[in-house]
Amino acid sequence: MKIKVVYQSFSGHTKRIARTLASALKVEAQNFKKAPSEDSELLFLGGGLYAGSLDKKFANYLQNLSTKHQKVILFSSSASGQRPSKLIKEILINKGYSVDDQELFVKGRFLFLSITHPNKADLQSVKDFALNYVGQD
Ligand SMILES: Cc1cc2nc3c(=O)[nH]c(=O)nc-3n(C[C@H](O)[C@H](O)[C@H](O)COP(=O)(O)O)c2cc1C
Repeated sequence: MKIKVVYQSFSGHTKRIARTLASALKVEAQNFKKAPSEDSELLFLGGGLYAGSLDKKFANYLQNLSTKHQKVILFSSSASGQRPSKLIKEILINKGYSVDDQELFVKGRFLFLSITHPNKADLQSVKDFALNYVGQD
């Protein structure tokens, strides 16, 4: 099965999540800025929340996504618990992509908010998510 993991990360939390996910799936995590444009069966796609929004360049990347993916699985991170995946999903659904109802959310930190995240237990939940997911088909 052709699996891709693509992420956006400003300060590294979503990158850690993406790398943990990718390692469990035995693929490489790719920053959206450098990700080659290619189709996949499963695309794990994730990003963070910044001032209540998606990173502008990442939102632009999503708007212009033109590759085929049988299914998209979202992962996301924020300090407050507000899920940026909702914003990613809106864009992708409008473009006609099939976005799975299952998604992964992991807390990240910002200033004094959620300073213990992402932690070991969070990263274990990322691994479990990946393995459960690919084990299901
Ligand atoms: C400039 C900036 C703005 C942020 N704004 C928010 C925000 O509005 N709400 C929130 O919950 N988290 C906010 N965060 C926290 C990130 O969403 C959080 O760290 C998440 O894990 C993504 O981080 P990453 O860029 O390290 O991947 C912000 C972080 C930064 C650096």
